[in-house]
Amino acid sequence: MKDFDLVLMDIKMPGLSGMETLSQMVIDHPDTSVVMLTAVADVKIAVEAMKQGAYDYITKPFDLDDLSLRVRRALERRKLVLENREYQRRLEQRVEQQAGQIQQYYKEAMEALSREQIVLGKLGGEGQRDHLDEAYLQVARSLAVMAEAREPYARGHAERVSLRASEIAIQLGCNAELIKQIKLAAALHDIGKIVIPDQILFKAGPLTPAEFSEVTRHPTAGVEIIRNIEHFKDVIPLIECHHEWYNGKGYPRKLKGESIPLGARILAVADAYDAMTCPRPYRPRLSNEEAVQVLKKGAGAQWDPKIVDTMLKVLEREARMLKAMPAEG
Ligand SMILES: [Fe+2]
Ligand SMILES: [Fe+2]
Repeated sequence: MKDFDLVLMDIKMPGLSGMETLSQMVIDHPDTSVVMLTAVADVKIAVEAMKQGAYDYITKPFDLDDLSLRVRRALERRKLVLENREYQRRLEQRVEQQAGQIQQYYKEAMEALSREQIVLGKLGGEGQRDHLDEAYLQVARSLAVMAEAREPYARGHAERVSLRASEIAIQLGCNAELIKQIKLAAALHDIGKIVIPDQILFKAGPLTPAEFSEVTRHPTAGVEIIRNIEHFKDVIPLIECHHEWYNGKGYPRKLKGESIPLGARILAVADAYDAMTCPRPYRPRLSNEEAVQVLKKGAGAQWDPKIVDTMLKVLEREARMLKAMPAEG
């Protein structure tokens, strides 16, 4: 059948009834507005027709002025729906293009870094390593700043996660290599968020399951961005697993307990605390005390209880230090 802007259809028709035709039309021609006509003034039928996708319902005999008004209204609404859809389509296309450009930029920057590393590696011996580590940490921090520029409320997130996570690692007696990895992973852990479309990242309300599954892509997307950089390869498991839960209910791999790398378990606690104490488009920030309560409640379920305990000590120390600082002004 050819596409029509609008169809006026009687409910009672020979053969296929109006209601049956309506349900078929909604599937085959979703952009056609349907106005149902009937001689029976039955609210139930009217409601049923609207539920099935009719735009309006007119009882016969009808007044011509009323009919033309309703037809005009149905056509205007259809125009609006089509315009909105077109707008949405263009917006999505633009976001996709932008995300593609950013990813391309990252890729080129990473490839350049990779080449640089090979050159530096050839030039220097072991003595160069610390220098190189520091240079890469700076690069990772710059990438974090770039990724965070999109989310004004997230600025400084990676830096704060890095400070607290490395403090936890020190308290737990982790070796210097792991502490170094944690700092690097903290800088890079959310760079994969660049693949999350604006309309999801900045949504003020709760996410639909489909939108949430977009969000859950960011650890893997982050890994994809840095995969080719030899210098970052040891921190891949930490970035990939920073949203795994101690009880196996996290993402992306649903790892459980100590099968989640220690560095990732540490990052998860520092990350969650900072996320809770910063505002988000869909909720205000939690107070420090409220966030501590959430951590305590989630110890053993979302987070490793030993790490939560250590985080609480780190936070107490932080509070003591803040208190000891002279007041401003
Ligand atoms: Fe994250
Ligand atoms: Fe994060």
